[in-house]
Amino acid sequence: MSGGLKGLVLGLETSCDETSAAVVAGGRDILSNVIASQADLHCRYGGVVPELASRAHLERLLPVLQEALGEAGVSAADLSAVAVTRGPGLIGALLTGLNCAKALCLAWDLPLLAVNHLEAHIYANFLQHPDLEPPLVALLVSGGHTMLVHMPDHRRYRLLGETLDDAAGEAYDKVARYLGLGYPGGPIIDELAAKGDPAAVRFPRALLDNGTFDFSLSGLKTAVINHIRRCRERGEDPDIADLAASFQEAVVEVQVAKTLRAARECGVERVALAGGVACNRRLRDSMREALSAEGISLYYPPPSLCADNGAMVAALGYRMLMAGERSPMEVEAASVLPLA
Ligand code: KG4
Ligand code: ZN
Repeated sequence: MSGGLKGLVLGLETSCDETSAAVVAGGRDILSNVIASQADLHCRYGGVVPELASRAHLERLLPVLQEALGEAGVSAADLSAVAVTRGPGLIGALLTGLNCAKALCLAWDLPLLAVNHLEAHIYANFLQHPDLEPPLVALLVSGGHTMLVHMPDHRRYRLLGETLDDAAGEAYDKVARYLGLGYPGGPIIDELAAKGDPAAVRFPRALLDNGTFDFSLSGLKTAVINHIRRCRERGEDPDIADLAASFQEAVVEVQVAKTLRAARECGVERVALAGGVACNRRLRDSMREALSAEGISLYYPPPSLCADNGAMVAALGYRMLMAGERSPMEVEAASVLPLA
């Protein structure tokens, strides 16, 4: 069968610290989704070092691409299009993927689809849940973003609110770094918090009742750091699991309250979580509990599709292809790119 009929889209993702290539059929079936994480490379710095990320993408992209095609059992002739993240993200990292995609499209005579990374995160939900359809409210929480979005229809977005300072994942990573726990901090804090008491320390819930859908996380991070300092000055050793659980509870409580209110105000019956922080177990459980009490369904992708991956890029690329969209070869990478 020809690629055109099966709608095989190759998706490339290099916006931050994951090098990924995937082949997705018909916007739904994942034939391969190869992800090479650079966490090992950046962990000693406690965050992503842009120059190291660009170089690592350059080294890893072609092997990752070959593996993705091999695992899917397809060749260039089977493909219908190449989709690639054009932004937002680290500019050098984005350029690696975008230039590779352009070269492939020229060499293989395929259409290019330049994808918005934030939109692709939301579309990971449609990949996982074939029955899911808008209208919905999406909470997009990643290392670089924290936003609440009303999605009345496919490919249409209204930004309800976003973080005024740190992103959710950034807060997890910074607190973990301060505690010397390693990088990325989100999964480590998630794990530790399961053994701690979320009510041990009452950290601030910024903007909880201010009537907006905006978030603020830098004050919470500072509150955690100050708390540890004060404990140490008194010669006490704070319980790390209790701290992790208390910090996480403050983050989750605000996210759940604002998402619930957004769903109510937008009158939607579906909420979708997206981005790396959507892996967080406390967020998932607490959100499900709050939403189900009002008859609202919660959706989220499995961990491999929450974090940065090529499959979500290919899934969105397929939709763009079907809508007749094509990106020009001159399309540029954009470190800042709004969703709406
Ligand atoms: O979406 P993503 O893979 O990359 C960006 O586009 O930023 O998100 C990465 C972020 C990191 O900050 C990481 O610490 C966080 O997601 N993260 C988590 C969890 N797993 C990953 N945060 C909280 N709980 C988790 N289980
Ligand atoms: Zn991401």
